[in-house]
Amino acid sequence: MIHLSKRLNTIYNLTPNDIAIDVGADHGQLIISLIENNVIERGYAVENKKGPYERMVKAINASKVKDKITPIFASGISKMPKEVKTVIIAGMGGPLIIKILKDDIDKLNHVDHLLIDSHGAFSFVRKEITDLGFYIDKEEILKEDDIIYEIMRFKKGHCDYSDDDYFFGPLLRKEKTSLFIQKWAKRKEEIISLLRKENLPEMRRNELSEELERIEKEL
Ligand SMILES: C[S@@+](CC[C@H](N)C(=O)[O-])C[C@H]1O[C@@H](n2cnc3c(N)ncnc32)[C@H](O)[C@@H]1O
Repeated sequence: MIHLSKRLNTIYNLTPNDIAIDVGADHGQLIISLIENNVIERGYAVENKKGPYERMVKAINASKVKDKITPIFASGISKMPKEVKTVIIAGMGGPLIIKILKDDIDKLNHVDHLLIDSHGAFSFVRKEITDLGFYIDKEEILKEDDIIYEIMRFKKGHCDYSDDDYFFGPLLRKEKTSLFIQKWAKRKEEIISLLRKENLPEMRRNELSEELERIEKEL
């Protein structure tokens, strides 16, 4: 059985029981685990570079579930079949994730869920994806190897969010786990220390002061 990292395991636990695609599947660990453990019945795994694609195909072929996974050599969701209901995009920058979705926006018509693990830019990702006609139905914050991850699950539909919801995560700020508090308390200290610098440009100072006020109100 494959041992998933804490981050991938969190995504695994949020995956609905439906046909899924893992975009940028790398070694294919996540999709293989999902099928091996009957979380989903079938799936697709995408890579857009030759080396990683070949590595991924090798791993899939070596697994017990190779007949249930279709490897795709393409960029993003450009070759995603209509039967896919869940799109997983993990371990990429926020702007790249949004580009992948927007490049083939029509493909999202048939999709129910998006499972997103972006490297930062969380506020931007939340706003962009809700603008595409999804709302956040699950959110998890976790720490692994001293890095804090925010995993978001979007569902087709609509919800009105405030700027604070986009910034902190609408469900994360409701739950306010100790890790959430830890993350924002650390950021607060960082900002206070930055604001002590005398040669800080006026615009940056204003931005940081605004962020500090937002965090202080939230904590
Ligand atoms: C940092 S790895 C993350 C792997 C895995 N998803 C994870 O979260 O551990 C990013 C992967 O995405 C692939 N990738 C980047 N852009 C892509 C695109 N437009 N379409 C498909 N795969 C892409 C890269 O080749 C790489 O294997």
